[in-house]
Amino acid sequence: MRRKIIAGNWKMNGNRDLVRQVAERAADSDAGAELAICPPFPLLPTAASQLPFGVALGAQDVSEYEAGAYTGEVSAAMLLEAGCRYVIVGHSERRTLYGEDNGRVAGKFVAAKQAGLTPILCVGETLAERDAERTEAVVGEQLDAVCEAAGAQAFRGAVVAYEPVWAIGTGRTATPEQAQEVHAFIRQRVAERDGSEVAEQLPVLYGGSMKPGNAAELLGQPDIDGGLIGGASLDPDSFLSIYKAAAEG
Ligand code: 13P
Repeated sequence: MRRKIIAGNWKMNGNRDLVRQVAERAADSDAGAELAICPPFPLLPTAASQLPFGVALGAQDVSEYEAGAYTGEVSAAMLLEAGCRYVIVGHSERRTLYGEDNGRVAGKFVAAKQAGLTPILCVGETLAERDAERTEAVVGEQLDAVCEAAGAQAFRGAVVAYEPVWAIGTGRTATPEQAQEVHAFIRQRVAERDGSEVAEQLPVLYGGSMKPGNAAELLGQPDIDGGLIGGASLDPDSFLSIYKAAAEG
């Protein structure tokens, strides 16, 4: 049985007051699923000191390098020291707005794992790619790049998030069937590369306009192991209500 994970990706939003509100609400979350937030870098120390034990902390990006002259970058070791368990790598906003290709994303994934962080690798297709029936080709390439760079058993101790680009921040959610189909494909691809045991244990989260109203149905799919929540994670009531759906489902 894979334990469900609900992670909030705050993107470039939030402040110390939001950390406080989430910390207060999360204090009475039960242990039925894992809860995590990924706030912007400057809020990590505040979140590390305020979040109740059991609520995990993650960052939204990491450098592929260990240290050195990389102005503006943050290393995996620094994130670990700041109290992070997770780090998102390859979010579609990083890929499209900041030109991160599969090779760079794979480097970040490797850096995170080497430091002892759990990478949350985001994969997903654009609308044009879906319409051209290229979803599996695109997602397959995104997974393969990481397998090649990270070596045998790359996905052991990692998390994958399927985030169809056309569903991010658009209010347009993948149907549970559409999402399940790609999640099953991801697990099958990892099984082919890393073995069925790694694939069976791999948490595959869904991200893209997940809200309290659609969470239970998405989370009820056999290969959907949680959510990476953008907009709805900025409202503590909505975020905790999605968490409840995961914990009780
Ligand atoms: P939304 O939930 O706002 O669609 O964002 C999803 C996302 O990008 C999470 O990483």
